[in-house]
Amino acid sequence: MGVLGMVGMTAYFGFVDICQPKEGETVVVNGAAGAVGSLVGQIAKIKGCRVIGFAGSDDKVEYVKSLGFDEAFNYKTIDLDETLKKVAPNGVDIYFDNVGGKFSVTVRNHMNRLSRISQCGSISQYNAKEPLMVPSFDRMMNVKEIKWQGFIGTSFTERYPEGKKFMAEWYLKGKLKLDLHITEGFENMNKAFMELFTGANVGKSLVKV
Ligand SMILES: NC(=O)c1ccc[n+]([C@@H]2O[C@H](COP(=O)([O-])OP(=O)(O)OC[C@H]3O[C@@H](n4cnc5c(N)ncnc54)[C@H](OP(=O)(O)O)[C@@H]3O)[C@@H](O)[C@H]2O)c1
Repeated sequence: MGVLGMVGMTAYFGFVDICQPKEGETVVVNGAAGAVGSLVGQIAKIKGCRVIGFAGSDDKVEYVKSLGFDEAFNYKTIDLDETLKKVAPNGVDIYFDNVGGKFSVTVRNHMNRLSRISQCGSISQYNAKEPLMVPSFDRMMNVKEIKWQGFIGTSFTERYPEGKKFMAEWYLKGKLKLDLHITEGFENMNKAFMELFTGANVGKSLVKV
């Protein structure tokens, strides 16, 4: 259900295949203490990238740092634009986006020429009642030759053996860690699901029936 399951394959193909990471590149990941985000940050480190993670509490920031991220910040208490100017002065090469919304509008302003955006999710927008009005990004995409790709992890099902091979190898070598956030009881399924939107989980959320 974790490293070799759906979230593991989403992290692997969404990052390795779509973002084509190169050593020394700067990567931004949000939802960094969550299931997909925490794995993406660790894979990025394995690939020799510099990784900046964002999560929603100071405890999560410490957790993300303990996973080996180079930098981590509580997005609720910082100025994102100022933070990126400071920690990514040469711009962002890869943005792995789990959150979308205003956070992404700011990150996009820091993307480098030939950078890549992997649109994994947009959890900040799932319950939005009004469409978000954001500045146009068209011209920047064009001039900076940015690749922006959405994806569904299960579209890579035929290639799962490849993803599982690498993820298993890295896991067995101790290079990948995924914590589990387990809720007991089928009757607590809705509660566990809603906790994804309040940020109660660290790592992969599971319900034990
Ligand atoms: N493309 C695919 O095939 C695929 C597959 C699986 C998941 N996904 C997507 O990937 C993302 C991560 O999924 P996951 O299963 O790994 O979940 P997760 O990151 O383990 O849990 C969700 C986390 O999202 C953050 N969050 C919730 N509401 C937010 C908001 N309004 N603004 C910013 N952050 C918010 C919370 O963390 P904080 O405390 O840090 O805010 C929460 O812990 C989701 O968008 C999900 O829909 C896509």
